[in-house]
Amino acid sequence: MDKLLIRGGRPLRGEIRISGAKNAALPELCAALLTAEPMTLQNIPRLQDVATMLKLIRNMGATADFSPDGTVLIDSKELHFPEAPYEMVKTMRAAVLALGPLLARFGEATVSLPGGCAIGARPVDQHIKGLQKMGAEIVIEHGYMIAKLPKGWTRLKGANIRTDMITVTGTENFMMAAALAEGETILENAAMEPEITDLGDMLNAMGAKVEGHGTERIRITGVDKLHGATHKVVADRIECGTFLCAVAATGGDVILRDGRIDHLEVVVEMLKKAGAHVEAVDGGIRVHSEGRLEAQSFKTTEYPGFPTDMQAQFMVLNVISEGDSKVTETIFENRFMHVSELMRMGAKIDVDGKVAITHGVERLSGATVMATDLRASASLVIAGLVADGETIVDRIYHLDRGYEQMEGKLTQLGADIERIK
Ligand code: EPZ
Repeated sequence: MDKLLIRGGRPLRGEIRISGAKNAALPELCAALLTAEPMTLQNIPRLQDVATMLKLIRNMGATADFSPDGTVLIDSKELHFPEAPYEMVKTMRAAVLALGPLLARFGEATVSLPGGCAIGARPVDQHIKGLQKMGAEIVIEHGYMIAKLPKGWTRLKGANIRTDMITVTGTENFMMAAALAEGETILENAAMEPEITDLGDMLNAMGAKVEGHGTERIRITGVDKLHGATHKVVADRIECGTFLCAVAATGGDVILRDGRIDHLEVVVEMLKKAGAHVEAVDGGIRVHSEGRLEAQSFKTTEYPGFPTDMQAQFMVLNVISEGDSKVTETIFENRFMHVSELMRMGAKIDVDGKVAITHGVERLSGATVMATDLRASASLVIAGLVADGETIVDRIYHLDRGYEQMEGKLTQLGADIERIK
């Protein structure tokens, strides 16, 4: 099991490129299955989750070639096995995104229930309810969702779908299913993340009719067929936000190429309030900071609010800043697992249910800590970068799921960090 060894206390300086977004690449690799024609996806990040998704797509009988420049060519003309087996789904719940496209194109899909993960139960009941509204008959058997069209149907039917809560991958499943359904689908309380906008743009490039993506109301008018296209994946706002927090915490001056402030407005606003300097520069974002910051309270909410995927990273900033902060996690039920590890490094944090209160300390001290989920592992890396002495972050397979070349990029910025097998 790989570990990261970090010697803290060095400011970050220089320039790195932000990779393509994991949470856009994963649905878009599935959306490629909506057409029998070849699909070209550019700026796909080299991540464990992407490797798993490509394995899943190949297992279905499609071809998927991933070239060194980040381009993936997918040809699903020969796809003959519309299934997502447990073996592949258990490590990557985003495989649930195969459900919509397989149902839409083949009229059937067998997808393993994803099961929970460290941050919560992560049910997919909303996905099932929405697809059933479009006519899908879905039964749960032996841990699988077995979906098919009613007798005599050749395609799904458009429907009005309002989910009980806003769901990102639920919205994406419905968009992909509706693209080939008969008639019109309206998503009432759709997720508005930039990754949703990017998926809608890709579907339209394939000949779909998607409108309002990026707002709470999306309208999809089904078409008979989708054709091949080329789509470049949007930059990863969470990777970008993670590096913004790292520079704000360590001090320094960094350019994040391809980073987009308009996808991180609330986080950037908070960083500025804390005392860091963040501005758009040609083709990216410049972040620089020196001296101690002011801790900032925040509550995670759906986009465009403060992203839950940035909660752990910003908390690290708070624990070494001046003053107290109140951090409220409203999306997932168990997303404070980084807290106990940060406390081992000297952080002062009180957790009560969904609320964590941080009390700023001058320094953290390096320690051996354990990653438990993707974003918690990123927060421990940031903590190691600012702590006195050596920090070893264990179980960084969590990090590898969602960050391309994290230690390489940090080394490029002057950090003292190395991967130990
Ligand atoms: C997506 O997960 C992201 N993953 C997550 O990123 C992100 O944290 C999350 O959205 C929230 O922004 C991908 O896009 C691949 P949800 P998703 O459905 O779609 C409940 C990361 O770190 N819910 O928006 O699974 C659910 O339990 C990952 O990159 C139901 O109850 O999240 C949660 O409390 C972690 N039933 C809330 O809704 C359902 O059928 C939001 O979940 C669906 C969701």
